[in-house]
Amino acid sequence: MKKIKTITCIGAGYVGGPTMAVIASKCPEIKVNVVDINEKRIAQWNDADVNNIPIYEPGLAEIVAETRDKNLFFSTEVDQAIDEAEMIFISVNTPTKTYGIGKGKAADLKYIELCARQIARVAKDDKIVVEKSTLPVRTAEALTSILHNTGNGVKYHILSNPEFLAEGTAIQDLLKPDRILIGGDSDTQEAREAMQALVDVYAHWLTDEQILTTNVWSSELSKLTANAFLAQRISSINAMSELCEKTEADVDEVAKAIGMDSRIGPKFLKASVGFGGSCFQKDILNLVYISQSLGLQEVADYWEQVIIMNDHQKRRFAQHIVKTLYNTVSGKKISLLGWAFKKDTNDTRESAAIYVSDYLLSEHAKIVVYDPKVSSEQVYADLEYLGTHDPAFIREQVKVVSSPTEACFQAHAVAIMTEWNEFNTYNWKEIYQHMMKPAFLFDGRNILNRYEMKEIGFEVYAIGKGPSIQIA
Ligand code: UDX
Ligand code: UDX
Ligand code: ADP
Repeated sequence: MKKIKTITCIGAGYVGGPTMAVIASKCPEIKVNVVDINEKRIAQWNDADVNNIPIYEPGLAEIVAETRDKNLFFSTEVDQAIDEAEMIFISVNTPTKTYGIGKGKAADLKYIELCARQIARVAKDDKIVVEKSTLPVRTAEALTSILHNTGNGVKYHILSNPEFLAEGTAIQDLLKPDRILIGGDSDTQEAREAMQALVDVYAHWLTDEQILTTNVWSSELSKLTANAFLAQRISSINAMSELCEKTEADVDEVAKAIGMDSRIGPKFLKASVGFGGSCFQKDILNLVYISQSLGLQEVADYWEQVIIMNDHQKRRFAQHIVKTLYNTVSGKKISLLGWAFKKDTNDTRESAAIYVSDYLLSEHAKIVVYDPKVSSEQVYADLEYLGTHDPAFIREQVKVVSSPTEACFQAHAVAIMTEWNEFNTYNWKEIYQHMMKPAFLFDGRNILNRYEMKEIGFEVYAIGKGPSIQIA
């Protein structure tokens, strides 16, 4: 049986970086190369000060400090790293297509294909190729086709090993996963050995029961299904949050009551301003696209509703701000606390804060953003990417500041966009004193005690809380 001595991961992002750091730490005898075409990103991973690595993830810097330049290496030498490894993880980005067929829904596989072609060009001996990026079902088939038609006699075994880690808890999720899923072919002895080689990597720290093997298609579809189910729970509770606001019900009480039913379970029932992140929307759109392509319109419509509800939740939060502020926010200072799509990450992809801001900008609000981990350049880039507003207008209307006090100073309203723990530790009395009156507080995450806030003097709106405390 083939023993893996070197692993290469193509793509040093939110998935590749943490996953490889944990593999390197748990498998000291395996050399782990992480390569990327983005020179700046690799330079950051190699920064002498480990706190400057490009991804903020609790516990990651410590693991990188312990393994980097021992058995974990970051570089832009993609060819060399492909050549050297017996096992290659593909962990490049697969964004939603912004052009052509499937625009706005299908996953853009150009980066995956480029990787496959590069592997095919460089490889001189047999390789196990592991799909780590989230991919549409049957991508393995495309990979197989590209890799097997190179004519240079190299044998490839394609495995699907979807990532279930969540950002902000990536290291814990990698160290103690609910399960590891490996999809592969079990028709031949060689194929079974390839699958076993990857099982053996994870077996350094996980038990057999935690490692699930399936055929490659089940593995690919399970990843999309898991994300679709998770996102569906959020859209379901968010749908209820709107109903709660029109009645005397409290969405947190409802979530607790239903979560105690063991068939439903308590997790992932937190009503919010809308889910974000690089996976949920992309994967569901992908599922919708695949279903439509296969003529399954009802299936497509069923899942699309999860996205429609999420878009509605973001928009109605922004609309509620405008309505509450006497139907105009033009020239008013609105302070947004949090820009990341969730706490404990600097990732902003698809964050609700971007869409809420975009809407408020259309209403000519002055927006001030504070996030403990997101840079001002990222905030501007996110808004510019949407293309709704002119970059000059965005820079004129939006300020990014480095303290919450500054963000809230003389603001007409404060909106909580991310559930950062530190937001609960602020001196809200002092913040209140320095705000315009009436001082409005919109809690998009239900993290503050609204009764305490009301006592201080705030006019409070919290997602899914009954009309007794509602303003408009
Ligand atoms: C998700 C999946 O959880 C993970 O398994 C997969 O590998 C990648 O996609 P991630 O996007 O990193 O992970 O974060 P997650 O914790 O799932 O949160 C996604 C979004 O949903 C965030 O914006 C979060 O704030 C929101 N959310 C989550 C809620 O609004 N309510 C909840 O109850 C849970
Ligand atoms: C349901 C609720 O479970 C219960 O809590 C509530 O008080 C009344 O409604 P019931 O209708 O008696 O109870 O049965 P349940 O076991 O929930 O099944 C309902 C239907 O769903 C059945 O037709 C069942 O066959 C079907 N089902 C259930 C599935 O198709 N798949 C499943 O995984 C579970
Ligand atoms: P994810 O969340 O899936 O990890 P990221 O965008 O954070 O996504 O990371 C993907 C990384 O893959 C990026 O740093 C990008 O530069 C890199 N990448 C994309 N295509 C290639 C390629 N052909 N070769 C090497 N790296 C690539």
